[in-house]
Order: sequence, then structure tokens, then C-alpha cells
Amino acid sequence: MSQFGFAAIILAAGGGTRMKSALLKVLHPVAGRPMIAHLLAALAPLRPAATVVVIGPQMEAVARLVEPAQSVVQDPPLGTGDAVRAGLTALHGRLAPEGEIEDLLVLFGDTPLLTGETLAQFLAERRRVSAAVLVAAMRPTDPGAYGRLVLSADGTLDRIVEAADATSEERAIRLVNGGIMAIAAQHAGDLVGALDRNNAKGEFYLTDVIDIAVRRGLACRVIELPVDELVGINTRADLAEAEALMQDRLRRAAMSAGATLVAPQTVFFAADTRLGRDVVVDPNVVFGPGVEIGEGARIHSFCHIEGATVGAGSIVGPFARLRPGATLAAEVHVGNFVEIKEALLGAGAKANHLSYIGDSEVGPGTNIGAGTITCNYDGVNKHRTTIGEGAFIGSNTALVAPVTVGAGAMVAAGSVVTGDVPPDALTLARGQQVNKPGRAAEIRARLRRRI
Ligand code: UD1
Ligand code: MG
Repeated sequence: MSQFGFAAIILAAGGGTRMKSALLKVLHPVAGRPMIAHLLAALAPLRPAATVVVIGPQMEAVARLVEPAQSVVQDPPLGTGDAVRAGLTALHGRLAPEGEIEDLLVLFGDTPLLTGETLAQFLAERRRVSAAVLVAAMRPTDPGAYGRLVLSADGTLDRIVEAADATSEERAIRLVNGGIMAIAAQHAGDLVGALDRNNAKGEFYLTDVIDIAVRRGLACRVIELPVDELVGINTRADLAEAEALMQDRLRRAAMSAGATLVAPQTVFFAADTRLGRDVVVDPNVVFGPGVEIGEGARIHSFCHIEGATVGAGSIVGPFARLRPGATLAAEVHVGNFVEIKEALLGAGAKANHLSYIGDSEVGPGTNIGAGTITCNYDGVNKHRTTIGEGAFIGSNTALVAPVTVGAGAMVAAGSVVTGDVPPDALTLARGQQVNKPGRAAEIRARLRRRI
């Protein structure tokens, strides 16, 4: 794709007021990833010569997130045309004919479902038809507030009318502006520079470049793209719709890569979830960001897994929680109501019931009994627990960190372990049992006499 240079300008200066949120719109996550990061990920394989993100004042958080892409502040935001003008200032001297950039790809920061394939196809199409401007068209069931595309008899694009400025006839047009545009870089500065604010909203509409280009004898065209990729997010309802579309896409990708999802509609992925071949995921599982599941692993129902690596052939759940830094080697078993955080479990280790393992290393083949807790936090600092290979930790053990249990050691059930356990030792750290023969019966008899 880098055989010809293109620059991407992503518009993200709008306030996103309809989200009614303290979080900037383009930072709202879809499949666990901020929506603007989806766009950058789609662009990356196309290797743009430059990526410029247009932000508003007080949007430093967006600028940081999109690095190394360059950010330009548009202040005040006076419309999409004005935003592109602001973005162009970062490309000074780099556009054709002087510079190496031949195409300008304009994207909106709130369309996270666009794929790299579609963007590549879109750029290739502008060159194929040698249009001055190519616009992505779509036919949503409800054309709503989208700009209407007015075509001439020969099928070229004549102008775009914003819904607020459209006559009732124009509003009846079903083919609308999906919001991406490719502009021949040599014309970009002139076209954008000629925009004015004579419209219903008093803004510089980017869409008016079509009318300007046509009047200068430059051909503009449309290409129809799937609505599912052009969905723009303005409200929380739109966000939920985009999430659903993205989840469907991720489920299909997981299955075509060789994972079984017993009930796909109930499994939720992050954009970066990686499942190996023959992984089986039972109903109702949530994957947060940063998860990799090895070949043949089984994830039972009601697990929540985030920032974790699960080795090949491991069995997790039902009802397990793997938090960031949980690393399970091959053939590990983690059962119901077990929480693991920042801990490495060696090959074949087992923690099958009701445990908390945090800031720990557990050796291969070690068995962690039901109810075992690593007491990793003293209220101020976190401390580590290290358990060697082939150890046996009896049920209901509290391991008060920092503490080390040597390889092959056994810890008796109910122990509170506050000191290190040597390898192959047996540790008993609990109150000693005392049996008083017949005493229970005596007590019962005495109590009954009192009634
Ligand atoms: C725009 C299009 C419309 C199209 C629709 C597709 C215009 C005039 N209209 O309308 O034809 O059908 O998108 O979704 O282009 N932004 C800035 N600076 C500004 C104004 C907006 O950066 O001054 C950014 C916004 O953050 C957003 C994008 O541009 O990411 C689009 O702006 P928005 O207000 O959502 O435009 P629409 O009304 O949806
Ligand atoms: Mg919009």
C-alpha cells in the first residue's frame, strides 16, 4: 500500500455532547479498546505517510492515546470542513504536486467499525476512477441526519446536502454520506480553502467540497460500502449497536480461526483476544483486553478473564476470575470461585476451588487446596508468595506473604503460614486438636436439667 503516499486526517474535535459523558466520545471503548484506537489499528497495515488527528481544546488525553500520530488542535471547532483545514496545517509542503502525499483520506473518529481492507479498497477506487473526491456511500434503513448524496444522470456525484439543509425531495434520497472521503491531495488545499458557512448550522461543511469541485470541472464519485462498517457513534444507543456488531465480527473470527463457541452470542471478546486452535468456550464468558488462550484449552461458563495468558490444554472455570498478570502454563486447572492476579502457575498446577492467588509463583504440578488464600496485602504494600514444584497446600491455608514454600513441601489444612517452609517438609500451623471423651454428652445433659 505504501507504493503511493497517502495521509489520513481523523476528525475528533467534536464535543460528543450526545454521549452525556465525562469521558471524551472517541475514548469510549468498543470491545475493550477506545474507538479511535480501532481506526488507527485499521490504518496501520496500510502504512499511511502521515496520520493527523484533529482534536478540540482540552483533549490532551486523545493526543496521548493516538501517539505517534500527530495531533492538531481545532479551536474553536467550526465544522468538519474547518477541521480538515486545521489538519492540513500539519501536512504543509507534503502534499502533491510538491510533496509525496497523493491522497488525503478523511475519517471520523467515531466510526470504529471500518476495516483496513475496506479502507484499502476505498483508496484504490479513487485512483481507479481518478476522481478528485471519492465519497463513501451507504444505504441505512433510516437515512436520518446523514448528508444526502445527489447524483447526476451519469452517476457522478453532484453535491452533498446536509439533512438540515435538504428540501423534502432531497431528504427522500436513501443514498447517504457515510463520512469517509478520499481527496486527490493536489486539490485538497484549494477545495477546503473555498468553503464558506452559508448553511443551516453556520459551519464550514466538508461536504460542500463536492459542489466546489464540480463547479471547477473536477469529477467526484461515490462507492457504496457496507453500512455495518460506517456506523457512526453519537449516542450511548449507537455505542451499544456498534459493540454488538463488533462482537459478532470477533465471534466469527474466533470460530473461523478454529475455536468452538458453544453459544457465540453469550461470549464477549476484546478486540485483541487471541484464542488458539481447538479452544472451547462455554456459554457466558467475558474476555477483557490482553488475553491469550493456548491450543485446546477449555473455558467453562461464567469466567471473567482479563490481561491473562492461559496455556495449552488448561481448564478454567466455571466461575473463575483471571485478572491482569495471571499466567497459566500448560495443563493448569483453575476451578470455581478461584481468583488469580499477577501470578504464574506452572505446568499442571491445580487450584480447583475457592481460592485467591495473587502476586505469586506456583511451581509445576503443585496442588492448591480449596479455600487457600495468599495474604498478599498488608494494607500498604503487596508481598509475594513463592511455592515450589510438586508442593501440596492443604485446604483453607492462609499464606501470609512474603513467604516461600519449598518444592515438595506439604502444608496441613487450616494452616496460617507466616514463615518459610523448607523443601519436602510438612508444616502444621494451626491450633492443636484436643478430644475430651464423653464431655459433649455431659454438657448436653446439664443444659437439659436447667430447662
Ligand atoms: C457528518 C457529515 C454528514 C455525514 C455524517 C456521517 C458534514 C457536514 N456532515 O455529519 O454528511 O452523513 O457525518 O456520519 O461533514 N468534527 C470536528 N470538528 C468540527 C466538527 C466535527 O473534528 O468542527 C468531527 C467530529 O468530532 C466527528 C466528525 O467530525 O468525529 C463528524 O462530525 P459530526 O458532528 O458527527 O457530523 P455529522 O453531523 O454526523
Ligand atoms: Mg456524526
